[in-house]
Amino acid sequence: MDSDTLLARITDYVNRPNPYPLYAELREAGPVVRQADGSYLVGTYHEIAALLHDPRMSVDPRIRGETTHKPPFLRLDDPEHHRLRTLAMRPFGPPHSPGRVDAMRGEIDQLTEELMEPFQAGRQIDIVDDFAYPLPVTVICRLLGVPREDEPLFREWSDAIVASADVRPEEDSTERDEAGDQARSEMGRYLVDLAEKRRGKPSDDLLSAFANEPDPDRRLTQEELAETAVLLLIAGHETTVNLITNGVLTLLRQPEHLDQLRREPDLLPRAVEELLRYEPPVHMRERIPLADIDVAGTTIPEGTSVVLALASGNRDPKRFHEPDRFDPTRPDNQHLGFGSGIHLCYGAPLARIEAQAALGALIPHLGTARLVQDPPPYRQNAMLRGPRHLPIQL
Ligand code: HEM
Repeated sequence: MDSDTLLARITDYVNRPNPYPLYAELREAGPVVRQADGSYLVGTYHEIAALLHDPRMSVDPRIRGETTHKPPFLRLDDPEHHRLRTLAMRPFGPPHSPGRVDAMRGEIDQLTEELMEPFQAGRQIDIVDDFAYPLPVTVICRLLGVPREDEPLFREWSDAIVASADVRPEEDSTERDEAGDQARSEMGRYLVDLAEKRRGKPSDDLLSAFANEPDPDRRLTQEELAETAVLLLIAGHETTVNLITNGVLTLLRQPEHLDQLRREPDLLPRAVEELLRYEPPVHMRERIPLADIDVAGTTIPEGTSVVLALASGNRDPKRFHEPDRFDPTRPDNQHLGFGSGIHLCYGAPLARIEAQAALGALIPHLGTARLVQDPPPYRQNAMLRGPRHLPIQL
């Protein structure tokens, strides 16, 4: 089959349950593959890692005229990116200190226990709706200072924004982009209003910290505050839900590892890292070269769309021994699950704590559980890939 339609096949919903054979095809077709729509696809570990660290690779949609509006720091290049990322990190405390995220550990454990209360033997539950979604949503709401009961409101905005940010070749996306823009501006206004209410009345959350910054040089503009808060609220829950759900799915499919983790709970942090390699929540990220760039003998022209298939890099046999095997004891597991380079995931410490708490609490209950549907129904999104539901019988 043609490798120039690989991206179309990878993003085709029928392949959502198992895109990994297509990633193998991609790596065999070459480190860099030109697609029928003129974009480029990169699927090998070392080339992806090099491009993630290459300052000639931009993330800014303004350079292609896609928008005139300043995007959140996920889509900004340095130095603009560095300034905003640093400001957004400030409320977490000084770098390398235990800080605010560690302080949330106890709260996260308690939330996990509360969510699991109704999980009794004989019951059928949906791991997504009953557990893996409410946990990170509640945590990011508390961290930001967003009322948890507003979830139905921001869920709709979040769905529209995430759909508009998906990778999709050869398709007219005007309608989806407009819906995404509108949701982004409504959600931004909602979060700026919440921050404004805390001005002069500080509380223990990020919106309050942003609104009450005393140093004018470190104060976010209203537009920056809106974009940053939208980014954190969405990134804070649309990914962790998939990590927890993929964890349960993987362990129920491979009961020998479920047993192994029950016997050796100390392996859990390494099992979470292995999940971020083996079934990562973020499958692809896009970059735009600011100059012609040579990658393994192919010249990628300036201004084209380059899709870096992180999930394929994670299964590259040139980097990982037996990459298609889930191995919680894997040594040297420098996966691309949180990206790499200047945009390396800002929320990684929080995501790790949440996934370890969630799986640690669930594992003792999964021994006699079984999957009701395998493969489960997947969410539409190809970039943020994960099950929409995961029904299990306890
Ligand atoms: C398992 C959960 C998570 C995964 C797999 C994940 C993955 C990623 C990846 C791959 C990137 C890099 C994007 C790129 O290079 O284009 C990223 C960036 C980012 N993530 Fe996460 N993330 C997770 C959880 C979180 C959480 C909980 C938060 C917020 C508290 C968060 C906030 C961010 C932000 C703000 C960025 C942009 C960083 C920058 O541009 O400097 N993420 N994440």
